[in-house]
Amino acid sequence: MTIAQDLAQTIVDPYAYADGQRVDEAFARLRRESPLDRAELEAFDPFWVVTRHADIKEVERQNDLFHNGDRSTVLTTIEADRRVRAMMGGSPHLVRALVQMDNPDHFAYRHLTQGSFAPQSLRALEARIREIAKSFVERMAQMGERCDFARDIAFLYPLHVVMEVIGVPEADEPRMLKLTQELFGGADPDLSRSGDSALGTDAAVDSLQSVVADFMTYFNAMTEDRRANPRNDLASVIANGKINGAPLGHLEAMSYYIIAATAGHDTTSSTTAGALWALAERPAQFAKVKANPALISGLIEESIRWVTPVKHFMRTATADTELAGRKIAKGDWLMLSYPSGNRDEAVFDNPFEFDVERMPNRHVAFGYGAHVCLGQHLARMEMRILWEELFARLDRVELDGTPRNMAASFVCGPKTVPIRFKMH
Ligand code: HEM
Repeated sequence: MTIAQDLAQTIVDPYAYADGQRVDEAFARLRRESPLDRAELEAFDPFWVVTRHADIKEVERQNDLFHNGDRSTVLTTIEADRRVRAMMGGSPHLVRALVQMDNPDHFAYRHLTQGSFAPQSLRALEARIREIAKSFVERMAQMGERCDFARDIAFLYPLHVVMEVIGVPEADEPRMLKLTQELFGGADPDLSRSGDSALGTDAAVDSLQSVVADFMTYFNAMTEDRRANPRNDLASVIANGKINGAPLGHLEAMSYYIIAATAGHDTTSSTTAGALWALAERPAQFAKVKANPALISGLIEESIRWVTPVKHFMRTATADTELAGRKIAKGDWLMLSYPSGNRDEAVFDNPFEFDVERMPNRHVAFGYGAHVCLGQHLARMEMRILWEELFARLDRVELDGTPRNMAASFVCGPKTVPIRFKMH
């Protein structure tokens, strides 16, 4: 079965994700009428659209049957795919990080840093993260009664935390932020390097490749430094790490830094900005958390579900199989739609309501299975500490203009959240 053209157009349109409602309505219709069918669009190879929570988990659980590395992990046009393969000696990927790997490499490369992101290791960072969070809360207080919570706080705080974890000096943070926004904001004229929105063209691939090359130049110098002078940071783990007794491959090491330096803050920033946007529009929800800080963990899970900053990942079937009554052929491409899974009426009551008391809240915003987000505990911890510090001083918040989302069909969230507030 093929899904309706208008729906297929919507779910690949970066502006439908910026709008939010348009994509929500499209996925709600798909879940009802066509929960697992093929999108056939001229610019793209056909792909299955996996919209239900249970089916997303079913695909992710079987990571040998549904591979990450065989085709692009991000929805890509036929033209862009051809361009990438021409540049990369036949590979469909510009980088080779954990996301692009399958076993046995995935297991080995994930094992290298898994310990650094485990809750026990993160506990050692708690005091330092709290200092950083306090300084951002103070910065907000100093701004008086108005700020753009996305740009002034939410973009910068997780950036600062993850750059310290990696070992990037503070002076280079603006550069890292700009490169990240160029990488994820390729379809947004406000953010993309080329300044236009011609996503999926040769020019767009070339511009992405130049962003990746800038990251690599930066991290190559860092690798050399950490080989000579190892420190207690993630860069030293990557620079001096061994996979099966040998140093990491060059592309793999560079890609490891890039994923940490991009996925490691952008998603958390989006979630943080989206949480305050939701609360500013819902005084009753704000009042509940203010009165009972034990609800902060509920606020965190609900805002991750609500924003779902990662909009999809692709998988490729390694054999003929059946899924939810559909025959999937070897080589078929599947889009896992996390925002759809996180609005699935079969799992969430009133999925279009923001409820800090939602319980249980088994969202799939961090993915599932072998590739489940490596940084999920860090992301939760950063947000918890920021909300603890902010709620202790924030008395009132409301919108002071119209918030807007970035346009992207892969990773996006709010780009501006103007607020008026009162702090003590
Ligand atoms: C709210 C914040 C975040 C969200 C919503 C998020 C979401 C995701 C998702 C959906 C995946 C793919 C999972 C899958 O395929 O099943 C992923 C993977 C990953 N994330 Fe996150 N992420 C967040 C924060 C972070 C942070 C703070 C880091 C820190 C470095 C990070 C690093 C990674 C890495 C390295 C992977 C690849 C894991 C693998 O393929 O094995 N993420 N994340």
